[in-house]
Amino acid sequence: MKIRKAVFPVAGLGTRVLPATKAMPKEMLTIVDRPLIQYVVDEAREAGIEHFIFVTGRNKGVIEDHFDRMFELDETLKGRNKTAEMEQLARFQPGAGETSFTRQQAPLGLGHAVWCARHIVGNEPFAVVLPDELVLNSPGALKQMVDIASGLDANSNLVAVEEVPMEMTHQYGICSVSGRHPSHANAYSIDGMVEKPPKGTAPSNLSITGRYILQPEIFEILETQERGAGGEIQLTDAMIGLAQNQPFFGVKFEGERHDCGSKAGFLRANIAYGLQRADLNETLRADMLRYLGK
Ligand code: G1P
Repeated sequence: MKIRKAVFPVAGLGTRVLPATKAMPKEMLTIVDRPLIQYVVDEAREAGIEHFIFVTGRNKGVIEDHFDRMFELDETLKGRNKTAEMEQLARFQPGAGETSFTRQQAPLGLGHAVWCARHIVGNEPFAVVLPDELVLNSPGALKQMVDIASGLDANSNLVAVEEVPMEMTHQYGICSVSGRHPSHANAYSIDGMVEKPPKGTAPSNLSITGRYILQPEIFEILETQERGAGGEIQLTDAMIGLAQNQPFFGVKFEGERHDCGSKAGFLRANIAYGLQRADLNETLRADMLRYLGK
């Protein structure tokens, strides 16, 4: 199974981090010195993705600008011999024709956002990556999943899963698993999924993290998918339908997940990613100890 395309749903309003996201897309919030969206695009590129598909909405134009060339900036950096900065921009720059943008015209849910990308994805398996969630690890979560997928039957579907405290299960898609794949220790057969189960009803504490590898048949199901949790068209509900006919696996990935759509998660991610940086680690560590009075 070769995964060439990734869909990034970026139409969300970011209400959990207002007022920061009133005029600025939440995907452009910065962790250290890169916007969230840049991290997930880099993660996808590392996983072999060749085509980056963004499902945007109103007020999200700056995301498209971020992945374009900035002529004035390039020329100015060149004139000032800022080679390191030029190289950094060049490294992140998608090539011509590697990005596509389409719009979700109304906030009808994640399932609807993914469905909006159906014509660009076409008839092949593809990844979905939610930019709210960063996974700090090398290789990244999507590369770990793609590596597993390459050894599975070609009609397999995968979601990244992680254990969460039972009292938090109502905030996530939750799945239950029936056993390990015989040749992939981190892949579990999924036998049930439910989106945001009411408190006390979750079948397990295995939450769906924002990384998916899906077969194109999901689009046919999404076409007629009824609204589910929160009155939205849920990707999880459509995946339940898909799992009736195709193999479905949960991948327990290596690495720490950061939910950057919440204020605490966003701050934690900044600290975790900052500490990973050789140029910042020492100062950051010293500052934190000082703030903690140690
Ligand atoms: C979405 C999915 C949910 C998943 C979560 C991960 O929910 O619907 O299944 O567990 O992302 O962050 P959202 O956070 O968009 O409400």
